[in-house]
Amino acid sequence: MTAYDIVIRNGQVADGTGKPLFAADVAVKGDRIAAVEAPGTLRGDNEIDAAGKVVAPGFIDVHTHDDTALIDNPTMAMKASQGVTTVVCGNCGVSAAPYVRPDVGHWMSLIIKKKENLAKDFAGFAAKVDAAKPAINGAFLIGHGTLRLNMMGDDLNRVASPAEISQMRALLDQSLEQGAIGMSSGLFYAVSNAASTDEVAEVAQPLGKWGGVYTAHMRDEGDHILAAMDETFEIGRRAGAEIIVSHHKCSGRSNFGRMKETLPKFTEAMKRQQIAFDVYPYIAGSTILRTDMLERADKVLITWSEKVPGLSGRDLADIAREMGCSMKEAGDRIQPAGAIYFMMDEKDVQAAMSHPGAMIGSDGIPFDAHPHPRLWGTFPRVLGHYSRDLALFPLEDAVRRMTSYSARRFHLTGRGEVKPGYYADLCVFDPATVIDTATFEQPMTPAAGIDTVLCNGAIAWRDGKPGGGRAGRALHRQQMQDEAKTA
Ligand code: ZN
Ligand code: CU
Repeated sequence: MTAYDIVIRNGQVADGTGKPLFAADVAVKGDRIAAVEAPGTLRGDNEIDAAGKVVAPGFIDVHTHDDTALIDNPTMAMKASQGVTTVVCGNCGVSAAPYVRPDVGHWMSLIIKKKENLAKDFAGFAAKVDAAKPAINGAFLIGHGTLRLNMMGDDLNRVASPAEISQMRALLDQSLEQGAIGMSSGLFYAVSNAASTDEVAEVAQPLGKWGGVYTAHMRDEGDHILAAMDETFEIGRRAGAEIIVSHHKCSGRSNFGRMKETLPKFTEAMKRQQIAFDVYPYIAGSTILRTDMLERADKVLITWSEKVPGLSGRDLADIAREMGCSMKEAGDRIQPAGAIYFMMDEKDVQAAMSHPGAMIGSDGIPFDAHPHPRLWGTFPRVLGHYSRDLALFPLEDAVRRMTSYSARRFHLTGRGEVKPGYYADLCVFDPATVIDTATFEQPMTPAAGIDTVLCNGAIAWRDGKPGGGRAGRALHRQQMQDEAKTA
């Protein structure tokens, strides 16, 4: 009998494809899964007892802003503690590279705390990630908003000129060649709101050539969501790119229940184009504080304020009462700031999550002083709360929406399944106890029931703390495409 490096023994395997749990030993050699065999048959130098536990592929967080968190915070505890082994970064139109300006700037500071983490080209940025030896992998989108900032400076309230469009397109082309996996846009945000459909479709052209994906934080997730979906589908079609709509939601009380319109629209469009979307398992969203969003929300919590520290975690209604002014005015007085908005319908969130096109993404914001609990809780919450407690879908299907489906949609070759030859990204968890513990009051606590997490064969998380394994890497588009050909 061969001795493997690690054998996870006697667990129930959820292999990521959605097929029913089966009992097996899983062996790891180097950075790969070497064997999946009958229980009790494999031996290893390090044996992990998984009796009573589930052995799943490591989870893929398809919607993150962890670009530079991988460098600043390489143990990635907020994600490894959930069983996440790969984060897709650069969403919502904002990425850490390529960035040619000397300063970080206000909008980029949402995801970047240190100037030295910026890079003029994607290759330089990926090298910084690899040098930091993060515990988990990163795959990277290029933000259309970041491209705009590079080429248009601070003059953003207009459509880009033909010359600027071709410069942005060249920068995207170069980034994809160097390993980025696609482009994201955030037409909702001021940086990109003036961009036309044509501008984005023109900039996005290299996606078709390189096989990159297009992800969209759409122009509108409220009253005009159907038009925003049409725009997104058109951009993907014109670029020849597969589409992922980000954090799908129907926002604002007057739009509650409108998943009845958006989900059939997805189903229809999916017959003609490759389209999917990500969802986070909460009725509250989080981004920068925008006073035009206040009336949509039932409740607003402040996550940070540069001008008035000490407001983190507080209700804006209380802050306004103390200031003796309206919520809008209180919001203006504490800017720049970040906020959590309670603005979704629970039934809508559940309907979105169970749609055939849905995968799980946290949209956590790593540097917030008092972050939305999704940063630490998303994946265990789907497994424990939605799958086990509410029986929204079987455990195997919950795992599929965090692993193989996500890997396929983002072309992350060799990940997302428990299968010999695949990378040894694995999560061992207790199906009876797995649950998020992060709350809106206490948002930075590790989940319960996550036992052991391996990334590229190294232990990233174990027994409630980082496992010391730092084998994560920047995933490279071309390399993954080559591996897909030889697989
Ligand atoms: Zn977004
Ligand atoms: Cu986002």
